[in-house]
Amino acid sequence: MTTYQLRAASPAKTRADAVVVGVVQHAKGPKAAPGAEDVAKAYGRRFRPLLTGLGVTGKAGEVHRIPTNGAISAPMLVLVGLGKTTDQVAVRRAAGVAARSVTNAASVALALPADSPTLVRAVTEGYHLGGYTFTAYKTKHDSTAPGTVTVLSPDARKSESSEAFEAAQVLATAVATTRDWVNTPPADLRPSEFADAVVVAAAGAAKGRGRTKVKAVVHDEEQLAELGCGGILGVGAGSDAPPRLVELTYSPKGAVAHLALVGKGITFDSGGLTIKPAQGMNDMKSDMAGAAAVVQATLAIAELGLPVKVSTFVPMAENMVSGSATRPGDVLTMYGGKTVEVLNTDAEGRLILADALVRATEAKPDVVLDVATLTGHMVLALGDRVCGVMGTDDVVDGVMAAGEAAGEAHWPMPLPDTIVERVRASKIADLLQHDWNRSGGGLYAGAFLKEFTEGLPWAHLDIAGPSFHTGSAYGYVTNGGTGFAVTTVVEYARSLC
Ligand code: BES
Ligand code: MN
Ligand code: ZN
Repeated sequence: MTTYQLRAASPAKTRADAVVVGVVQHAKGPKAAPGAEDVAKAYGRRFRPLLTGLGVTGKAGEVHRIPTNGAISAPMLVLVGLGKTTDQVAVRRAAGVAARSVTNAASVALALPADSPTLVRAVTEGYHLGGYTFTAYKTKHDSTAPGTVTVLSPDARKSESSEAFEAAQVLATAVATTRDWVNTPPADLRPSEFADAVVVAAAGAAKGRGRTKVKAVVHDEEQLAELGCGGILGVGAGSDAPPRLVELTYSPKGAVAHLALVGKGITFDSGGLTIKPAQGMNDMKSDMAGAAAVVQATLAIAELGLPVKVSTFVPMAENMVSGSATRPGDVLTMYGGKTVEVLNTDAEGRLILADALVRATEAKPDVVLDVATLTGHMVLALGDRVCGVMGTDDVVDGVMAAGEAAGEAHWPMPLPDTIVERVRASKIADLLQHDWNRSGGGLYAGAFLKEFTEGLPWAHLDIAGPSFHTGSAYGYVTNGGTGFAVTTVVEYARSLC
């Protein structure tokens, strides 16, 4: 277990096993970043030649470790590149890089730029998340995480700084748990197990702080049948692990707004009878990343005590192949009564989300956000690090701003009328789930979801790209589940206060 503390102290005199400082890439060569002044001063005239001699440029992602031989109190100095800026995105990334390069240190002091609450938060979150590892299935692993991490900030004694520092730990823990759930093998996180994990997490949230608790209700397959959740049942029909719908409520006294969250919880997506090609199935344990993110965002909002009521709806199903699976050509009746002609069982996310969105509108929220690993089209359009956002204009703008505040990348996408028409073009049911004319496929999915939002202010976040990272770690993003959208959703809730 690593404990974090926030201090105002000189990094040159701090007795830690390692001190981390930032280096900025500058036209005239590398420059010590804010926070590193005392270290540069302690080295004096030796500092610049030291940087040049090591080949330090300050490029983002760059890291050098040097023994200090008494130049400062700590025996080891870690220099991380920030790139050309010292904004929160650069700082969060650099802190993440630092976390993976500090090994065998019992204590670490972070002297990265931290002269605002936003940067204190970025340093703390970045370090926590950059050092994330998923070791539950390793029979042998060494833990190299330090026992104590000290975040150094000139503003450490200001209440806004300590609030940002506390919030960063709540948020980083929420993101890390999201990653854990996404990384868990799909045989060990089927709908009932996922629902149980959410109930346990909800029971543990906001405990012992005088905060409002989060209420959790789980609907099993029989209750789903009584409710008429044809989308969730239809998608879950091919699996011997029956589906679930989990509903969370956080209702603090004096709430100033009511936010509804919906998250796609496909615990494994084989594609169903419209089966995926082998490679397309590889990472489909991550198809519940939206559900994990909205659950953890809800619990973080409760932990932070934000005065916003949150109603969260997470449909969970396993999309499998069997004699009882839904067929292309079947018609499903969704919760609330709309009928849907299914033409592609691999477009299952929109079907479980339809039921959950209608449930969400019944809670009469001011605004609805859904988060889903919905389409490969969005990955083709925006790449694997940017989330596509569709919906009501002002909510989309709000999500863009929240993403900016959280340091996560989003891009607005349209829902053109012609695509709405295609969704309504079923010959035998109210709506057509899929159109084999694949143009605008990501938008088609968004337009389909819109049919279930009852005209409420709403935005859809397609996180198919950024929710899972297949390569090796960069910045604070590690391999596997990334926990994308947790912090954006929390910032969005904060923007309603
Ligand atoms: N879960 C997938 C989307 C996905 C793809 C997530 C790649 C993460 C990475 C979704 O259920 C799916 O299969 N979508 C189809 C939609 C199509 C049939 C309209 C897709 O993207 O091919
Ligand atoms: Mn699918
Ligand atoms: Zn899917």
